[in-house]
Amino acid sequence: MKVKNKREIKHSKKINPNIKKVVSKSVSDKKLRIKDKGKKTIKQKKKNERNNNLVTNYISSKAKIGNNVKIWHFTYVGDNSIIGDNVMIGSLVHIDYNVKIGENTRIEGSVYIPPLTTIGKNVFIGPGATFTNDPYPMSPKMIGTIVQDGAIIAARSVIKPGVTIGKNAVVGMGSIVTKDVPEETVVIGHPARIAYSKKEYDMKKLKWESDN
Ligand SMILES: CC(C)(COP(=O)(O)OP(=O)(O)OC[C@H]1O[C@@H](n2cnc3c(N)ncnc32)[C@H](O)[C@@H]1OP(=O)(O)O)[C@@H](O)C(=O)NCCC(=O)NCCS
Repeated sequence: MKVKNKREIKHSKKINPNIKKVVSKSVSDKKLRIKDKGKKTIKQKKKNERNNNLVTNYISSKAKIGNNVKIWHFTYVGDNSIIGDNVMIGSLVHIDYNVKIGENTRIEGSVYIPPLTTIGKNVFIGPGATFTNDPYPMSPKMIGTIVQDGAIIAARSVIKPGVTIGKNAVVGMGSIVTKDVPEETVVIGHPARIAYSKKEYDMKKLKWESDN
């Protein structure tokens, strides 16, 4: 992870006021000079130096971050990526360059999203999901994956380069998705196969939520 310098921190504050919430605070030099007497001050100075070296997030100054975007700790967002309004991004997420993420999408911790990935609106991406873009590494020819609006990708799924996950489709936890997933269907397993419909999933969800 790249260490964020002061200029990058300032810029990320400018493009998204929310980002400043996750930048670590430190005692200013002036305050230190005033306090610079005795052992306590030396301890404070050392602590302060450690805090200054902490990396919280790296958000490229070339990324476009929408309104009300929440980004948790140790997350990377690369050049020219576009993040829509109200997106929530968990800790330890890697979003590379030229990625698009639609509004209201939620990305849980430790998700890997390589260049050229396009993710729609209202999508849920579970922890540790991995998208890929290089079918035969290491090749300079890459192809992104597409996740259409309302899709759910459960924890630890892996999506093959070039695959499209259809609108409101569900990818079960730990699935290896090697082919396009039709809209409104649930797929599970490796390789992922259709298990049932999204309608059935919604019924199971309702039952789960209403059962005591
Ligand atoms: C897709 C999903 C909803 C399916 O759950 P379900 O419909 O309750 O499935 P069931 O537990 O009734 O299992 C039905 C069968 O499918 C199998 N199965 C269920 N989920 C599976 C999965 N992800 N991969 C492989 N097989 C699976 C079960 O072992 C069972 O097999 P059996 O009939 O031979 O015994 C669930 O696997 C899932 O991914 N939930 C989301 C978890 C998650 O990542 N949450 C977000 C982060 S906390």
